[in-house]
Order: sequence, then structure tokens, then C-alpha cells
Amino acid sequence: MNILVTGGAGFIGSNFIRWMKQHAPEHRIINVDALTYAGNLESLRDIPQDASYVFIRADIRDRAKLDEVFSQHDITHVVNFAAESHVDRSIVDPELFLTTNVLGTQALLDTAKLHWKSNPEDKYSREYRAGVKFLQVSTDEVYGALGREGLFSEASPLMPNSPYSAAKASADLVCRSYFETFGLPLNITRCSNNYGPYQFPEKLIPLMIHNCMEEKPLPVYGDGMQIRDWLHVFDHCSAIFAVLIRGEMGEVYNIGGNNERTNLEIIRQIIHSLGASEELIHFVKDRPGHDRRYAIDNSKITTRLGWTPSYTFEQGISETIRWYQDNEEWMEHVLSGAYTEYYARMYAPSFRE
Ligand code: NAD
Ligand code: DAU
Repeated sequence: MNILVTGGAGFIGSNFIRWMKQHAPEHRIINVDALTYAGNLESLRDIPQDASYVFIRADIRDRAKLDEVFSQHDITHVVNFAAESHVDRSIVDPELFLTTNVLGTQALLDTAKLHWKSNPEDKYSREYRAGVKFLQVSTDEVYGALGREGLFSEASPLMPNSPYSAAKASADLVCRSYFETFGLPLNITRCSNNYGPYQFPEKLIPLMIHNCMEEKPLPVYGDGMQIRDWLHVFDHCSAIFAVLIRGEMGEVYNIGGNNERTNLEIIRQIIHSLGASEELIHFVKDRPGHDRRYAIDNSKITTRLGWTPSYTFEQGISETIRWYQDNEEWMEHVLSGAYTEYYARMYAPSFRE
């Protein structure tokens, strides 16, 4: 396979490239990333550029560039990670989320259709060259929020609550339409919250680890009793590979590890692992439209594709904390000026309360 990985300099994309190098090195990876604030080539420092791995700086909304990449590298598969991914940022700048997450995905779909369709001029033709697939990496947030009971299944209605999740849900629907109308071979995966190495420290777990290490306040939104269903990033990567290889065309697969925790449980676990003080906990103003609970029913991917997660949360979180302790230099480097400004804007008013 010649796999176009978009957003491969981000958290999950860079771990996917690393996972592929370890578990399926026979495939070629072409990594296209615009290197926004969230993309960092230092997250790929251990992956040498050679015949089986190439990095190209490009925006997924740039159709001319995508066309060139497909032609030059004979792309057979797309794994689309590229996105604006942070809910809080989507509340500040929804438009960026819509253009990147929806129009960027559509530009990729169009390019794949053009290059893979047996007769691109025939709008009725649903014939494609053999062995191609587009995989859209989506999120459980498209389903909205759960109450105390229940799980998201693939049949749950799409009820996104933030501009981020609305943009991801829109992209999912565009993908669905390209399967239904054009027969483009594709899958959609919807995963729960990931944690692990190389995650940008605006997200809960690396933010709390970093602040504990620096003895800075730990900003807890609202009452801290929101629930997320955590999965180690390598388990997400193995699930994506399973869907890429064995997923039935047109199907959606939820991915999750049956591991629900409140935010406060996670934060306290980090505090205790690092020997920090609970006095660092600061309750701040809640995120507008904050989803209360996410939890995934993963029975479709486990029964139909035989995928199971391999990490327990205890093993995964302690390895992850150790990784951030051992990689302080990476953390310092990703905390660029642009991020520091955003961080100050985002949290300063709450701490002044
Ligand atoms: P991330 O923010 O760490 O990485 C996103 C990457 O996309 C960055 O490298 C960035 O430079 C790149 N990018 C952004 N806009 C681009 C553009 N226009 N063109 C090309 N590249 C662009 O995100 P992540 O946490 O690694 O998430 C990756 C994907 O997985 C996203 O689609 C997200 O919605 C989805 N997802 C994330 C989680 C999670 O817990 N982090 C869970 C489920 C699904
Ligand atoms: O569920 C999958 C999604 O998980 C992905 O689609 C998103 O890309 C990813 O960012 C993540 O979204 P969340 O909003 O759940 O993740 P975040 O790390 O931003 O927040 C996790 C929880 O922690 C959420 O309830 C908000 C809370 N939180 C977060 C931050 C950054 C705090 O209480 N304080 C904080 O400072």
C-alpha cells in the first residue's frame, strides 16, 4: 500500500506512523501535514525519511498540491487525521474548523475519486481500481453527550454540540455521501479520547502532567465530574489498521476501550503519580456546551474485525507520565510563542477569579 497519512505530524498521526513502522513496515507512508501549531516534526524525529517514508508540507485544502501528491506517489490509501482538533479553540474560531475539517476532507475525497475512479469522466460510474480505500478518522464527539446510562453505538444519532464536533460530523456525512453516490471505497472510524506520548499540552492529560511538573495550577472545568472513555493511542492505531485492512466498505466503526473515568479521577491519578499536591487543583469556569459523558460500545469492531485494546489504563497512564518526564525537551519545544499566547488568553481570566 502507498498510504497518504494526513496530519501525520500531530499527536495520533505521528503515533500511527510509528506504529506502522513497527507493525507493518512493508507499506509506504506519505505524510502530508500543514504544520499548524499542533503539528511538530520533532514528534517524528525517530522516523528516518527514506524510500518507505516521505514528509510533504501541504494543506489538505490545496487541491493542486493533493493532485500532485497522488500522481507522484501513486496513492492507494488515505488515512485522514488532518484536522483542527481542540474543542476550546473551536469555540474561539469556528470558521477555521469548518474549512479545515469539512472542506479539507472534501478536497481529499475529490482527489481520491479522480485518481481512483476507472472512468473519472462518467458521473454514473461506480468502478474503482482494485485495492484502494479512504479512511476518515472521526470521533465519538459527533454523537453528542450521554447521560449517566448508555453507550454510543454506530447507530446513535449524530448530535454534535461544539463547532469542532459539528465540523467532524459534517465531514462524516460528506464521506457517507461519497460512498452512497459515487461508491468511493471508504470507512469512517469514531474513536473515544486518546492519551499517550506526543500529545499537544492543550489537551487534558498532557496539560495536567506538565502543570504538575511545573507546580502550576491545574484548571478543572466546572465540577470536574465529566466522563471520558480513555484509549491508549497505540490501541487506536491498531484499530485503524484493522479497519484499513479488513473493514467492510461503507461501514462506520466505533473504537473505544471500555475505560470511563471522571476528569477529577484522571487529574488526581496524575497528581499522585508525580507526588504533587492536590492544592494545585483550581476549579475554573466551565467550557460552554461542555459534553457531560462519552462512552463507546465497541462490540462491532471487536466482533466483526477481531480488534481488542492491548493496554490497561494503569499501564498506559504510568508509561505516558514517564514519557513526559523523560521528554521535557519535546514539551519545551512544542510550547512555542503562539501557543503561550493562546494559553494566556484562554486561562488568564479564570485564574483571576
Ligand atoms: P492534532 O491536533 O494533534 O493533530 C492534527 C494535525 O493535523 C497537526 O499535525 C496539524 O498540523 C495537521 N493539520 C491541521 N490542519 C491541516 C490542514 N489544513 N492541512 C494539513 N494538515 C493539517 O490532532 P489529533 O489529536 O492527533 O487528532 C487527529 C485526528 O483524530 C483528528 O481528525 C481528530 O478529530 C481525530 N480524533 C482525535 C481524538 C483524540 O482524542 N485526540 C479522538 C478521536 C478522534
Ligand atoms: O472524544 C474524542 C475527542 O477527545 C477528540 O475528538 C478531540 O479531538 C479531543 O480533543 C478530545 O476532546 P475533549 O474535549 O474530550 O478533550 P480535552 O482534552 O480538551 O478535555 C477532556 C476533558 O477535560 C473535558 O471534559 C474538558 C476537561 N478539561 C480540559 C482541559 C484542557 C478540563 O477540565 N480542563 C482543561 O484545562
